[in-house]
Amino acid sequence: MPSAINGTNGSGPEDQVQRSNIKGGNVESQTRCLKPMVNSGSLDKFTNRDLTPIIGREFEGLQVRELLKADEQLIKDLAVTVSERGVVFLRDQDVTPQEMKTLCERITQAAGSPESSSLHVHPLTENGSELGDQISVISSEKQKKGGGLTHQLSDVSRFASAGWHADITFEPVPSDYAMLKIHTLPATGGDTLWASGYEIYDRLSPAMQSFLEGLTATHDAKFFLEEATRLGNPLRDGMRGSPLNHGSSLQATHPVIRTNPVTGWKSVFVNKGFTKRINGVTKDESDLLLQYLINLVTQNHDAQVRFKWNKNDLAIWDNRSNWHCATYDYEAARAGDRVCSLGEAPFLDLASMGRREALGL
Ligand SMILES: [Fe+2]
Repeated sequence: MPSAINGTNGSGPEDQVQRSNIKGGNVESQTRCLKPMVNSGSLDKFTNRDLTPIIGREFEGLQVRELLKADEQLIKDLAVTVSERGVVFLRDQDVTPQEMKTLCERITQAAGSPESSSLHVHPLTENGSELGDQISVISSEKQKKGGGLTHQLSDVSRFASAGWHADITFEPVPSDYAMLKIHTLPATGGDTLWASGYEIYDRLSPAMQSFLEGLTATHDAKFFLEEATRLGNPLRDGMRGSPLNHGSSLQATHPVIRTNPVTGWKSVFVNKGFTKRINGVTKDESDLLLQYLINLVTQNHDAQVRFKWNKNDLAIWDNRSNWHCATYDYEAARAGDRVCSLGEAPFLDLASMGRREALGL
């Protein structure tokens, strides 16, 4: 995998074999994580528990502010833990949006993101936004005015599962990690769900896995153009955290199955929110395949974790190999801050394994 993705050194037979294993990716946005990272266990001293066998780990007594002062090994282990467990929850954080940005930058760097990748600027972030370009304010009040995936889908579906997505997959260089802190919340409701793309890959037959490994999909967020007009904000068409993310096409092509370089595990990488078309098959086949893959995500609650927020809880997740979905079952205000870092241009390493196979499960 390493020289194959770097692709610049060596042209011997071994290099050619490795290169032929790689699909997708972009030479201008390659991971620097050349082999799966190993967790040293430095976070084990903090109280933690796995919320389900497949996905989610919760820590208590681990403060981001302390973590930022600690040595690099803790940050590395946090990155590996997030990538392996899909999503990590840190309860009751005394942390500013600026400190969240610093943590996100350190996690993405520890995980080997390309030099050209930084924090994402969302195309709908207002110019002069009070917390800066790289913080997205997640707010029920804003959503009532017609924001994001909810609005796009509210007129066509009454399924709560319509909102399942991975963040910003319409960008050629999408997100590796994202974090969200909720500071304002209703007395009940507003849970967020995450689901594991590793597990969904593992539930496909070997024949279906290898068929999908030959395909790409088109991800598209054109609905943001309409939304920008409706909200009266100009779309951010300059560079959005990577030289490859710019303009107003809001469209990208990615492998249907991708490898997460931090774990080395394969996952399904299409989502309900942004994936419009599987390429290289007929429209009917694409519709059928997308529906099937999305059903695997939404109907397998044993591949999901549902998190009940308390004030100032922080979630950190890996967008390469997981999806998430908000729950709009409340009236009172709910708000928080989100930071999203960019990883590598998605690639598939045909020599990589599924999670269950890699763990010997
Ligand atoms: Fe999201």
